[in-house]
Amino acid sequence: MAKRVSTPASHSQIKPALLGKFHTGLAAWYAAHGRHDLPWRTTADPYHIWLSEVMLQQTQVATVRERFYFPFLKKFPTVEALASAPRESVMKAWEGLGYYRRAGNLHDAAMQLSTQGGLPSAPPSIDELLALSGIGRNTASAILAFAYHQPIAILEANVKRIIARVFALKDPSDAELWEGAELLLNHAEPFNYNQAMMDIGSLICTPKNPKCAQCPASVICVGKKSPEIYPTPKAKKHVPTREVMILVREDARGRLFLEKRDEALLGGLYGFPQTPYVNKGSAAQQQLGTVTHTYSHFKLIGHVAMEYIASKPNSPDWHSRAEIAALPLSKLDHKVLALVENCHSAKKKSTKARAPHKAR
Ligand code: ADE
Repeated sequence: MAKRVSTPASHSQIKPALLGKFHTGLAAWYAAHGRHDLPWRTTADPYHIWLSEVMLQQTQVATVRERFYFPFLKKFPTVEALASAPRESVMKAWEGLGYYRRAGNLHDAAMQLSTQGGLPSAPPSIDELLALSGIGRNTASAILAFAYHQPIAILEANVKRIIARVFALKDPSDAELWEGAELLLNHAEPFNYNQAMMDIGSLICTPKNPKCAQCPASVICVGKKSPEIYPTPKAKKHVPTREVMILVREDARGRLFLEKRDEALLGGLYGFPQTPYVNKGSAAQQQLGTVTHTYSHFKLIGHVAMEYIASKPNSPDWHSRAEIAALPLSKLDHKVLALVENCHSAKKKSTKARAPHKAR
């Protein structure tokens, strides 16, 4: 069946007086309950706001605020500093945040901008922002609304849910959601309005048990009688499991072999080589155990095997422990490294225990 893209009837049904009531109620709610102290809401620096929006694309507010936002800005305080940094140090600052393509895009965009002296002080056009790596319509709109106070609607995941409920849309297209978002926008107060919408989405208009009685959008909400059916809840996706063999090779100097990843998921990071898991590996390999990690669309089980090489290869792919500490590794590869070090120290302990006591 062809997807309906026309304006839903309810889009045109909000009377200006009711919209005004919603705006007034939302502003009052935000003044009383909004998360005003989020650090990207207390700065006017477009680079800081842009960084926060990229970090928040797929990561929770608490994680970004507590662990990543400030250290990243300390390391790269300006667009120029970010642009001139080596890729590896940018990836290292992103280590643990996941969705690493965001970091690569941010770095590319900083390089695109550095020739122009960073983001401008006057509002850029949305097309100028969209031309930068990793900036889509929502991020561009958020930068314009939050850094430049431009009258433009945003549409992140929480706001999508509000729009679907306000207009009682079960399976809305992005075009319908954008249309709804634009209709609701308070043009006079784009900063507070959009921040408030995100707070309502995460604190009030929640996926389950929304608190409609406290919601300033209830005056215009068509779906409030049965909010949980808008949008239609997605069936839980089955997360497939992928099993791999992870090979840790250590040379005669105690250096470990790492490859540089270039695939979409972990591009720009270093890691231990992985191959599909077919059997327990060769007799030359010592089985250390398994590590697991759940990605957004699959669960990985890695069988870790260790192999000692008698030679000292002359290649940049072999790294000392100190070098590895400075390289960007995924969470899974950190788990592998921890397993290797645990096995090393267990082995040392048992060798010591077996060694005869020296006479005093
Ligand atoms: N998610 C994306 N942008 C955000 C913001 N400015 N505040 C809170 N959560 C967000």
